[in-house]
Amino acid sequence: AGYRPLDGRHVLVTAGPTWEALDPVRYLANRSSGKQGFAIAAAAAALGAKVTLIAGPVALKTPAGVERIDVESAEDMNKAVKQAMPADVAVMVAAVADWRPKEYIGEKIKKRGSAPPALMLTENPDILTNIASGKGRPELVIGFAAETDDVLANAKAKRKRKAADWIVANDVSGDVMGGDDNRVHIVSANGVESLDEMPKSAVAMALAERIAASLQAEAAE
Ligand code: C5P
Repeated sequence: AGYRPLDGRHVLVTAGPTWEALDPVRYLANRSSGKQGFAIAAAAAALGAKVTLIAGPVALKTPAGVERIDVESAEDMNKAVKQAMPADVAVMVAAVADWRPKEYIGEKIKKRGSAPPALMLTENPDILTNIASGKGRPELVIGFAAETDDVLANAKAKRKRKAADWIVANDVSGDVMGGDDNRVHIVSANGVESLDEMPKSAVAMALAERIAASLQAEAAE
């Protein structure tokens, strides 16, 4: 059935935003649509991989041949990722909220006519860093960096800080978030490869092909 260089490989993908609940009706979130992550899951499956897609709240159909696990918060996503291990490749595309409300209030917070309540935040686990520096590390760990400024410099620093093999950097100062096209730069130990702007599905296939090539090169060593 065609070209399947990822046959026998397990690829873990995180995608979408996370929702960080404040009370039963309110949450903090971000503008991630999940489109790029879902496209990567689809591309990896098309190349023969067993794919586990751990998705935050998004309005997207599950790609063919992909096992999808839905989660809401960063903490849930972190747990689901650990449970889905081991994997040969982890592609962390989710726009995980950096912070969550420090306290979850069990009843809807009421307006009381006085000062607005203060929002206290606490840091979420860094799922990418946990996977990249933990036991049973996948052979290839790939992170994303959505930046609005100093895209490449930030991506290079992020690659080292998070112990990722590759960082896929994209400039989200335009209408990438929610849009259908993307322009990415793949930052690895070997330097930077800049791809042209193209549909997210084409970015996904380009990345899946590079993943397959990298695993094959490792296996040949
Ligand atoms: O630090 P920043 O959020 O820009 O890093 C982005 C990369 O790290 C993405 O690959 C994202 O999926 C991952 N990440 C994560 N857990 C977090 C924050 C980011 O996995 N708490």
